[in-house]
This record gives sequence, C-alpha cells and structure tokens, in this order.
Amino acid sequence: MEVKTSLLDNMIGVGDMVLLEPLSEDSFIANLRNRFDHNEIYTYIGSVVISMNPYRSLPIFTPEKVEEYRNRNFYELSPHIYALADEAYRSLRDQDKDQCILITGESGAGKTEASKLVMSYVAAVCGKGQEVNKVKEQLLQSNPVLEAFGNAKTVRNDNSSRFGKYMDIEFDFKGDPLGGVISNYLLEKSRVVKQPRGERNFHIFYQLLSGASDDTLKKLKLDRDFSKYNYLSLDSAAVNGLDDAANFRTVRNAMQIVGFMEDEVQSVLELVAAVLKLGNIEFKPESRCNGNDESRIKDKNDLKEMCELLGTEQTVLERAFSYRTVEAKQEKVCTTLNVAQAYYARDALAKNLYSRLFSWLVTRINESIKAAPKSRHKVMGVLDIYGFEIFEENSFEQFIINYCNEKLQQIFIELTLREEQEEYIREGIEWTNIEYFNNAIICDLIENHQNGILAMLDEECLRPGTVTDETFLDKLNTICAEHLHFESRLSKSSKFLTDHSLPHNCFRIQHYAGKVLYRAEGFVDKNNDLLYRDLSQAMYKANHSLMKQLFPEGNPAKVNLKRPPTAGFQFRHSVGTLMRNLQTKNPNYIRCIKPNDKKASHIFTDSLVCHQVRYLGLMENVRVRRAGYAFRQAYEPCLERYKMLCKRTWPHWRGPAREGVEVLMADLTVPTEEFSYGRSKVFIRNPRTLFSLEERRRQCLQDLATLIQKIYRGWKCRSHFLLLKKSQIVVAAWFRRYAQQNKYKRIKSATTVVQSYTRGWQARKLLRELKYQKRCEEAVTTISAYWHGTQARRELRRLKEEARRKHAVAVIWAYWKGLKVRREYRKFFRANAGKKIYNFTIQRIMQKYFLGLKSTMPSMSPIDKSWPVKPYLFLDGVHSDLRRIFHLWRCKKYRSEFTEEKKAVFEEKLEASEIFKDKKALYASSVSQPFIGDYLEISKNPKYQKLNSAMDEKVLLADVVNKINRANGKGTARIFLLTKNSVVLADQKTGQVKASVPLPDLTSVSVSTQSDGFFALKLKEGSASAIKGDFLLSSEHLIEIITKLHRTGATAADSEQLNIDISDEFLVQFKHDKVCVKFIQGGPKNGNSVSCKRKNNRLLEVSVPSTV
Ligand SMILES: Nc1ncnc2c1ncn2[C@@H]1O[C@H](COP(=O)(O)OP(=O)(O)O)[C@@H](O)[C@H]1O
Ligand SMILES: [Mg+2]
Repeated sequence: MEVKTSLLDNMIGVGDMVLLEPLSEDSFIANLRNRFDHNEIYTYIGSVVISMNPYRSLPIFTPEKVEEYRNRNFYELSPHIYALADEAYRSLRDQDKDQCILITGESGAGKTEASKLVMSYVAAVCGKGQEVNKVKEQLLQSNPVLEAFGNAKTVRNDNSSRFGKYMDIEFDFKGDPLGGVISNYLLEKSRVVKQPRGERNFHIFYQLLSGASDDTLKKLKLDRDFSKYNYLSLDSAAVNGLDDAANFRTVRNAMQIVGFMEDEVQSVLELVAAVLKLGNIEFKPESRCNGNDESRIKDKNDLKEMCELLGTEQTVLERAFSYRTVEAKQEKVCTTLNVAQAYYARDALAKNLYSRLFSWLVTRINESIKAAPKSRHKVMGVLDIYGFEIFEENSFEQFIINYCNEKLQQIFIELTLREEQEEYIREGIEWTNIEYFNNAIICDLIENHQNGILAMLDEECLRPGTVTDETFLDKLNTICAEHLHFESRLSKSSKFLTDHSLPHNCFRIQHYAGKVLYRAEGFVDKNNDLLYRDLSQAMYKANHSLMKQLFPEGNPAKVNLKRPPTAGFQFRHSVGTLMRNLQTKNPNYIRCIKPNDKKASHIFTDSLVCHQVRYLGLMENVRVRRAGYAFRQAYEPCLERYKMLCKRTWPHWRGPAREGVEVLMADLTVPTEEFSYGRSKVFIRNPRTLFSLEERRRQCLQDLATLIQKIYRGWKCRSHFLLLKKSQIVVAAWFRRYAQQNKYKRIKSATTVVQSYTRGWQARKLLRELKYQKRCEEAVTTISAYWHGTQARRELRRLKEEARRKHAVAVIWAYWKGLKVRREYRKFFRANAGKKIYNFTIQRIMQKYFLGLKSTMPSMSPIDKSWPVKPYLFLDGVHSDLRRIFHLWRCKKYRSEFTEEKKAVFEEKLEASEIFKDKKALYASSVSQPFIGDYLEISKNPKYQKLNSAMDEKVLLADVVNKINRANGKGTARIFLLTKNSVVLADQKTGQVKASVPLPDLTSVSVSTQSDGFFALKLKEGSASAIKGDFLLSSEHLIEIITKLHRTGATAADSEQLNIDISDEFLVQFKHDKVCVKFIQGGPKNGNSVSCKRKNNRLLEVSVPSTV
C-alpha cells in the first residue's frame, strides 16, 4: 500500500513559510537558518521554492531522489526543487499548459545550478529512446559550451554567468523532448578588456591556454603563459577547484555532441586567440606637424599574427587603428586617432568581436537543438538571469540588470496574484482585495517611452552636439525630479540637497528591493556601444569564415548612415519580448539565496540573508499568499489526515469527502470565519488553525498509538499463550505416538522371533523329508541305469555277433561269386586287356612326346636347322614330317612379313638360283651378295648426267663391264646400262652411248659353267643392232646382270623368252665371222685371274683358275 505522507511530516521549522506563525522578518530568517542548519536547503512559500546555496554537495540529487519525487504531489514530500520540476513537467504533459521556470537571486546564489537541476530532473523523468536521448544530451551539453564562453570567476561566484539565459525546451504530446531554443541577454562584454580585482576574464581564455595541445596552440600562435596577455588578469588566473585543462576537454566534447563541425570549432578558437592578440597591441603617440597627436602601433608582431588568424590585411587594420572616417550625408571626413582613441577602438573591437562570437555560438547551438517543425509543441522555459545587483559603485550594467529584475518582479506579482485570484474564483471563494506593493511605477520610471530613463539616455546619445554623462544626468534631474523613486542631489526636489550619501555625479533609484546608487559615468558610452565603421569594414573584409556573419554592418554595399540601436534600446526590446513570452506561460518560481559571502558551507550570515529576503520581496510574497487563506488542501487528503479527530469520521467515513470534512470541522468547533469550503478544497485562513489541527492530530495520534500498543500487546500475549498451548498439545501427541510406536515395535520383533523359530523348525523338517525322497529317487535311478546298461550291452553283443556273421556270409558269397565270374569270363578278359593296355600306353607315349616337343621347339628363324632328337624310333616318320611342316609354316610366317621391295629382291634371287644353281660354278659366291642394280648411282653422279638424260626409261642396272676385243682378247671398260626396253653400252669416260640394243633384238645370252664373269649377248639375226655383231663382255656381277636381263626380257610385253645358254663352248658372231669362245681349267701359271687369249681367228680361249 502506498504510504500517504505530507509536507507536514517530520518538518524542521516550517516547510512552507505561509504557515509561519508569527510571521515576521526575524521568524522568517530564523526558520531559514533552522532549516539550513539541518541541511534543508529548500523551503516553500506556497508553490514558490526558496533555495539556499549549500556550497557543498548534498546527497539529495541522486537518482533515488528523482524516483522518490516522481509523480508525487507537490506538498506530499519535504520541499525540494524536484517537486517543483515534477509539478511543472506533469502539468505540461498532462494538462497541456506551457510552463516557465523563473530562477532569480543574486550572483552566486545558485541560479545556474538550480536551472541545471531542473533540466536534469526533466531529462530523467521524460521519455526514453535513442532519438529522445540524443536530444536530451544535446540540450544538456549546450550548458558547458555556453558556460565556457559566458561564465567567469567573480568575487561572488567562481562560475558566475555573465549573461542572461532563457531556454525553451519543447516537448511533444507524450512529454518527450523535441528540441529547444536558447535566448541570451546582454553579455557583460566589458570583462573581455578589463576585469575587477580578484576576478577573471571569461573561462574560455584560460581553458584554451591550459587545455589545448601544443600543436593547437602553435596553430593559433598562442603561448601557454597567461602573463603574456594583457587581457588576462593574473592575480586570480588559477582558481581553486577549477581544472581549466579538463574543462577545455569537456567543452570540446560538448561542442562535438551539440553538433559543431571540426572547422567551426577551429574558427571559434581562432577568434578567441585573435581577441587575446588584440589585447597585446599597444600604441605610442607621434606628433604631427599640424600639432595633432597621432598614434602608432608599437610592436607590429602581435598585429601581424592577429591579422593572420583573422585573414585580414595588416595595412587595412593598421589604418583602421590610426584613422576614423565619419560619413555624414555626402561628406566623408577622415580624422586621425590619438593614442587614447586608438586604445578605445582596440577595446571596442575586442568587446564586439567577443560578444558577437558569443551570440553566434548561441545561434549555432539553436540551429543544432531546434525541434523539427511539427504540429504543436508544449514548451517549458527555464530563465536563469542575473539577479538584483547592488554594489558600492553601480554603473550602466547594474542599471540594466536591475531593470530586468524589476520586470521579473512585476510579472511575478501579476502572475502570482492572478493565479491566487483565479483559484479563489475556481473554488467559489469570496475574494477580498490584497494590499501589496506594485513595482509598476519603478518599471515606468525606467522604460517609459517619453520620459523613462532609458528613453532619455537614448535621446542624449542621438542628440547632436556635445553629449556627456553630465548632460545626461542634468536631463534626468530635470525630468525625473518629481518621481517618487528617483533621487538626485541636483534634482529640482530640494529634499536631497543635503543628502551627503548622494554624490553629485550620481543618481539613486528606489527599487522594489532597495535603493541603488548609480554613477552616471560611462552611461552614454556604454549605451552607444560604438565601434568605428572603419573597424567593422576591416573585419568584414577579413578572409575568416565567421567574420562576414559577425560584422554584417561592415559590408560596404550596405552602408547605413543610421546609427545602430543603442544597448539600452536593444535590451528593453528583448526584455519586452521575454516578458510577453513569460506571460503566456504558467510560472514556477525558484528564489535563490546565498547564505554567506565567503562561498563557504555551513555559514549562515543573517544580515546577508535578510538583505536578500528583502529585495527578493519574499516577506511580501508570504503576505500576499496569506492575505486570503494561508493553507488549502483538497478534501480527500484533508479528511484522510484529520479523520481520527472525530468519532464519526474515524476510522472510516462512507460519504463524500467534503461532508466528512464539514462534520469534522463542526465536531472540532473550529470558528467558521477561520475556514471556507471551496469546490474541491478546504481553505484555512490562519496557520494557527492548521497548527492547532496538527497539534490535536499529534495528540490523537499518541492516544491512538497507546491504544494500538495496548491492543497489540494483548494480542501478542494471547497469541503467545495460544502458541504455547498449541505447542504443548503437539508435543504430547508426538510423545504418545512415539511411546506407542516403541511398544508396537517390541511386540512386533518378539512375534517375528517366535515366528522365525517355528518356520525354521518346519523348514528343517520339510528339508529332511525332501532329502530322503531325493535319495530314494537317486537309488532307483542308479539301479534302473545299471539294469538298462546290462540289457543294452547284451543286445549290442547280440547285434555285433549278427553283423559279423552277415559280413562273413557276404564275403564268402563274394569270393564265390568272383570265382564263378572269373571262371566264366577268363577267355575274353585277356585279349581285350592287351589291346586296351597297348592303346593306353601308345596314347600316353604320344601325349608325352607332344608335350615334350612343345617345350623343345626350335626358334622361328627359317635358317635354324636344329630339331629335337627323336625320342622313339617308331615315331621316325612323324618326327621328320612334323619338322617339315613346322619349317614350312615358319617360312610362311617369315614370308608374310615381307615388304614389296624385299619380296622383289628375293624373287630376283630365286630366279638367279633357278637359272644358275648347279649349272655355273660362279653362282655359289653370288648368293650372299645383295643385288644392288645401279652400281654407278647414275642419276646422282654428275659425271653421268648427260648419259642419264639420254635414257628415257628408268635404269634398272648400271655397271662397268669389260668389252672383250676379238683381236687380242683384251677388255675395254664400258658402262653397261639396262632399262626396261634396251641394253645400252657407253664409254666409261665420256659417257657417250656406243651401242643401244632394244631387248627384243636380243635372242640369247651365253655363259660358261665355270666361275668366270664372261657372257655373250647374242642378237637377232637381221635386226638393226646385229650389224656390228654380238657382244662379248665380262663383269663381276655376272649373275645379277643375267638374272635382271632374263627378268626384264621376260616382262617386256612383246619379247620372247630370253634364252640362257650355259656351256663351256659357244659361238659369238663378230661382224661376219663366228668365233668360238672356249673355257678351260687354267693351270697354276695363270695365277688367280681369268685370262682370255686369241688362239686363232676362230677361237678365243678363256682360262679360268680352278680354285675360284
Ligand atoms: N544545489 C547546490 N548544491 C551544491 N552547490 C551549489 C548548489 N547551488 C549552487 N552551488 C554552488 O554555488 C556556486 C554558484 O552557483 P551558481 O548557480 O553558479 O550561481 P548563480 O548562477 O546564481 O550565480 C556553484 O558553483 C556551486 O559551487
Ligand atoms: Mg549563474
């Protein structure tokens, strides 16, 4: 069950100042102090949150706290900034009301921290998701960037915002953030060039110098040493607890998250560096002949580096620091600047450069975080603006700031009262007018269009002629003299003439929060905010990516002779816009107070707090709130809280809550003027009434506690007794059960023993009987086995005997039968057996013979004469037949492998053998000589080219032969050619054809039987060739020549068979004579050569050696 709590529970002091009783400034501050001492830094005034700066981190901003305050009613838990943030967020989400959170307080009071707490709370409780988280992250990360450029260390605050900030966070209908818009107000730019003692310039300068890498610094032409830069105050460069280097990294990271491009970051840093460089430019006077002083730049190095950073021409800038061009209508006047003016110009440029850069940053962030233009957005605005400032010396800035606070107070009064009134009307409560101080009159003093201070300042600034702060003050003195809140020594109102606290050059304004004395000095200048046109034009010309955006008025094409709006005017304008914006929203206030001036925790300076309470108008706030009814509460929680005070409503009230409250009030006899019944709430006029109710409730709670205690104790004792009793029964039951169980176990085991003896005895008896029975059965079996054995053996013996006898009979019968058969068949048996044995033997022998022959076969060569020895005499014929058959077969095999040429060669050889074998002795020696035919290689040999060409047929044989001369038997060498058709004889040397005989003219060839080479070619009688007679020739290749002649003659189609005549005596026809050629066996005197001799006219004798 959810525990209903209230703000009123465990309250330290009072959590809501409206309930403070008695209400006085002292009690107010005492209450704040009391709560502050107990770490309660938040206190309410109705729905306004007062926040005391604790100056230390308290454990009250944890995620658990966020969960605790999430979706809880505002007054349900002790005061917290989260309660306000939750209330604002929920009414934005659930009731569709745009919200604004107005955070005010003086510098260092914790406004910026408070705004961050609100934003982080909203970020934690609103929707989640990748896109939403990115938006949240960008919104949150815009803070470090703006703080780096817009915050500085001041005497009051180490991280003081030097600009006003208003941020609109936009949500969709579900309450998820979509984006945001940031507006900035009046950056304190004078800080860029000069800082009060103990204060620093803006953080970014220090962060850049401490945190940037050496490389980056080199690029920016900067040095890490702060002391090198005139614009950086040195006495407080290092601040305790502030790590500039780490913060620089945080800023870079944040810029990246927000969406700055790398080159944009670089450009921004370049401008920051340029401002530092600008501060180092110094001027010296130089007298001119016309007596005017002119300024010159002392050391141009810084100028040069700065120009490089900005991308401007050095000469242009140098000129802009020395001259000033004033344009009026058509005239252009150029005047020189003296040293003071040059410094003024330099500082004005630095201030403008920096403040415009800052505005550009805000615009750039807005570009990143802006929400997509969707249908309708709900908006929560967070305003973190400088608080009311009262210094010893107050100037234009304080005047502007305090004006802004006046306006905020105005809106506070308007909205708070309006809301209060609206609530009374809503609840139907009669409205009584409330007295309060309305500061509209002060706002009017400042901003009135005709005679407001700002209007007059503008008027002075724009007026021709000499304008000084004194003339401005004079004007004020005349025009505002009558105003109730304006005080000045020289005003027409004489009452201040003797007021020495009011110097002559000052004026004083009674702000709602106190009197503030302003020095008129600097008002005109600051309002003018003058930057010489030459400078803005020089800046516009710069090559830097941001310069054209920052100095648009420098564009020569758009020279505007009108003065730019004054600072005061701009501020009034933007404050006006802001106020109109805030008025459309539901306001939520956080009033920040700082407890001491030392930035220390645990110190509470009454006077300081009192001062702030006063100028924040907190007492008035409480009074306004209490003017009607101090306390209001819805009927249900009210009844729930106080129902125990009345018997009729306790413990339960069944009817409507309002009636319950009415019964309750009547029963408690609360005076009727002390409260009113609204539609949904009861309104209590006086805190005293509420506290008396609370007191009674406390009393009643004590009584109730006693009662509850009593009942509880009774209940506890009784239940203890009942428990004991119940336990006793249980214990007894358990014990009885245990005893019975034991007894039962004993009986059971005795029974088991007896039972086991009996069973044993019975079993043994049965065993004995069974054993006896078994022995008997065994004996019977043995006896019968023996008996059967005897029987079987006897039968076996008988059967064996019978079988033996049967066998004997069969053997005897077989012998007898055999005898009988042998006797009968003896005669046939012998004749058959012999033949069969013979055949068988022969078969075996033949088989053996053939198998043996198979393994001893001779080789396949036809000239291999070997043949196995015959094994059996009787196989003689077969053996030689087989040899012949085998030889024929292998010759056939051999022949079948012949090629055509080889076949022709063999055919020739065969023919030679047919002609000469056993007929001529020379033959035997020719067998082994191959027939070559063309011995002269007639077609190749060039010697015989002519001869060869004379032949029209293919030459079959060409050889050198001897032609035997008839006269002396001596031989002459001739070439012998044989073609298909003729025989040709030619001269061996010249190759000239001597004789050509067509083959048909050749009748026969004669040779001897001996081993000589002589042969005679005999010609057909009467033929053309026969005129010279026959030819007697001799050759070494006789056999071949004759064979080829024979073959060719045989194949010549129309020739007859050429006769070969072999005898040792033949006739040769020489011209007209026939000569006989006779061959004889030569004696040894002739040697080994054949010789031919002419014996007589008719005889030629050839002697052939016998052993050739
Ligand atoms: N709620 C807080 N818890 C702890 N310290 C705080 C808190 N609020 C402010 N401070 C401290 O006070 C300092 C000044 O707060 P800041 O919000 O910058 O003041 P302001 O914006 O009003 O000038 C902070 O730097 C921080 O140290
Ligand atoms: Mg601040």
